[in-house]
Amino acid sequence: MSDGAEKSKRSNYHGRLEYTFARNMRDYEGYSIGKLLSLINDPKIISMAGGMPSPEMFLQEQLRQATRRRFDSHIHRIMQYSSIRGEGELIEAVIAFLQRDDIHVRPENVMITSSGQQGLDLVGRLLLDPGDALVVERPTFAGALAAFQMQRPDYLGIELAADGLDVVQLRQVLSDCQASGSPPKFIYVVPDFQNPTGICMSLAKREALLALSRLYHIPIIEDSPYRTLRYCGSQLPSLFSLDQQQGGGSVVGVYTFSKLFCPGMRVGFTIGPPEVISKMTNIKEGSTLNTPPYNQEMCADFLTTVDLDAYFQRCHVYYQEKLRVLLEALETHFPPERGVTWTRPDGGLFLWLSVPETVNTQSLFHAALGFKVAFVPGDAFYGEHPEYRHMRLNFSCPSSDQLKEGVRRLSDCLVRTESVVDRLQRSRWSINQYT
Ligand SMILES: Cc1ncc(COP(=O)(O)O)c(C=O)c1O
Repeated sequence: MSDGAEKSKRSNYHGRLEYTFARNMRDYEGYSIGKLLSLINDPKIISMAGGMPSPEMFLQEQLRQATRRRFDSHIHRIMQYSSIRGEGELIEAVIAFLQRDDIHVRPENVMITSSGQQGLDLVGRLLLDPGDALVVERPTFAGALAAFQMQRPDYLGIELAADGLDVVQLRQVLSDCQASGSPPKFIYVVPDFQNPTGICMSLAKREALLALSRLYHIPIIEDSPYRTLRYCGSQLPSLFSLDQQQGGGSVVGVYTFSKLFCPGMRVGFTIGPPEVISKMTNIKEGSTLNTPPYNQEMCADFLTTVDLDAYFQRCHVYYQEKLRVLLEALETHFPPERGVTWTRPDGGLFLWLSVPETVNTQSLFHAALGFKVAFVPGDAFYGEHPEYRHMRLNFSCPSSDQLKEGVRRLSDCLVRTESVVDRLQRSRWSINQYT
């Protein structure tokens, strides 16, 4: 298009200016799950789609009291701009909190973020140039894909087994990348009760992953929103703490208060080598500046005044029961001959359900809305080569009765869909007989 034509196109569009979006953004259509969730607007729908903690676990009275106390003592500090890297009190509280998990950091290793999602955005912006490769699990957290997508990277997907990512495949991929001279910039993993599968990486795989990271000099981004939500079995060391035992420096940890305390605060933190934290702070300076002081104060208050062991124990009992109800309902409605399988997590908020190959869970999602039940179709969770026979189910937010009824509706919907698919296949077969 000539310059003149381009100009007139810009100014004559319905009499308004036409915006020329950045190349990166022209075909970007937003966060796929966000769009699906906006379709679930009928209150009669039982939604197992979201990723929200239960409001029944919110410490409402504690938040009210903390607000009153802190407004009375230093409202001026709450209403002012504050440090970009985070309030000193919260950083100290985070350091003490991490010590409970055998992670030992200093203030220069910590940055407060406006949610875990911002931590992921900063990681992507710090480490990725367009066209760079990064390693992700198959499937992986869709929100991380949305954050990294801003840099237009290439994804190297590594299959996920019941005990975490396939380290043999990872070794092969890293070796191939080294041979071709284009190593991935980092390896992104959610080792504890992963979103979307609920899978927890075994200790052997954690050690193998760290060894590969060191061998190939590729940093690991460990995203840990669900680490405190273990309902049975014993806690495994984080990648960050294992790495520290070997000298440290290979792992950046991304954390959030969303599932620890409440998502409404939008506060999280990132830990890593001082040079990484300091560069991330520079990026944050150009976007949000500081995380709101009120929200930081509430999180600091949560870490320092709540009996965390007792609170987490209460959450464990509550969520474990929800998980038990969901698993029991699945066993009731999906006996083995139906060909439906699912993960059995020891923690977190989700499980991953796989349906027979003839069923596409994207289409099933729309059919399920007619049955007044919702889930997240699995294809949203792949960086490349999406699979269409899985779905993510959340058990933290629906009530136990809703979980039971939701699974019954899902089962009915699947029966109906399979019979339609079956009829279609048979009619195709009979047409083929005569052509
Ligand atoms: C694996 C994972 N990472 C990060 C986040 C982001 O959490 P936040 O609500 O703090 O943005 C989530 C939220 O669901 C998550 O599941």
